[in-house]
Amino acid sequence: MKKRIIAGLVMAGLLMITGCGQSGADVNPAPVISEDEVQPVVTADASVSEREADTENEDVNGIDDQTSDTDSSGDTDETSAAGSSSDTLVVYFSRTGEQYGVGVIEKGNTAIVADMIVEQTGADVFEILPQEDYYPYTYDELTDVAKKELNENARPAYAGEVPDLSQYSTIFIGAPVWWGDWPMIMYTFFEENEDALAGKTLIPFSTHAGSGLSGFDRKLSSACPNSTVGTGLAIAGTDTQNDPDSVRKSVNDWLSGFGY
Ligand SMILES: Cc1cc2nc3c(=O)[nH]c(=O)nc-3n(C[C@H](O)[C@H](O)[C@H](O)COP(=O)(O)O)c2cc1C
Repeated sequence: MKKRIIAGLVMAGLLMITGCGQSGADVNPAPVISEDEVQPVVTADASVSEREADTENEDVNGIDDQTSDTDSSGDTDETSAAGSSSDTLVVYFSRTGEQYGVGVIEKGNTAIVADMIVEQTGADVFEILPQEDYYPYTYDELTDVAKKELNENARPAYAGEVPDLSQYSTIFIGAPVWWGDWPMIMYTFFEENEDALAGKTLIPFSTHAGSGLSGFDRKLSSACPNSTVGTGLAIAGTDTQNDPDSVRKSVNDWLSGFGY
């Protein structure tokens, strides 16, 4: 009986996604699933809440690239904040290649949101890049690899030096939802830097294909119990590519709640 209910929920999620009329790559639906189905339930910090961005698709627009270096997300290279006086940092993970509902993209959905946060806040930025980039270019293959990482509770290594976190009081942390959870590489970051993140305000954001914030806030709280987790923002990945003006408004409204 329980199995039937779960299967029904999964189907409902998939139907929601396929029924959204999203265009782009001819790819399978995003693995939109309830977070509890894929990951053991994480102790919740009920004090954090999720704010969903409600954006609609309109026309195509480009987002200015803020930096000169490009990489796997088509955006900022991992950036040490040497010499910076900002007390705000944006840490994010994002993929290019073939992505759900948007075809092949040159700049990752989450990277676009990260850029908007940087623009509005003047934050420094650190991109989580895999040390060994074995992630496939095609969407279906990528979902398989990500599922394997999730099942194995893997901790993929990331490249580069994390900037000295002591200078930051607020850190925005963003990633695509992968199988109803943070990509496993983000847990590598949380766990390796748990002590340095203690006492800071961590603010999660996701891009997704229907799963929203997927408990990013609760899971971040569990991984970094000595940090304060602020209200997260979830943005539909397709909107970042198709309706960036609306996304920018959602991002800026959300940021204004933190005084930016
Ligand atoms: C491996 C993988 C798993 C995904 N799992 C989900 C999911 O569980 N729920 C969801 O809403 N979207 C899911 N998606 C869609 C992505 O979250 C979405 O396309 C996101 O905006 C991609 O961001 P990026 O370009 O920054 O990587 C998944 C995509 C991939 C590649």
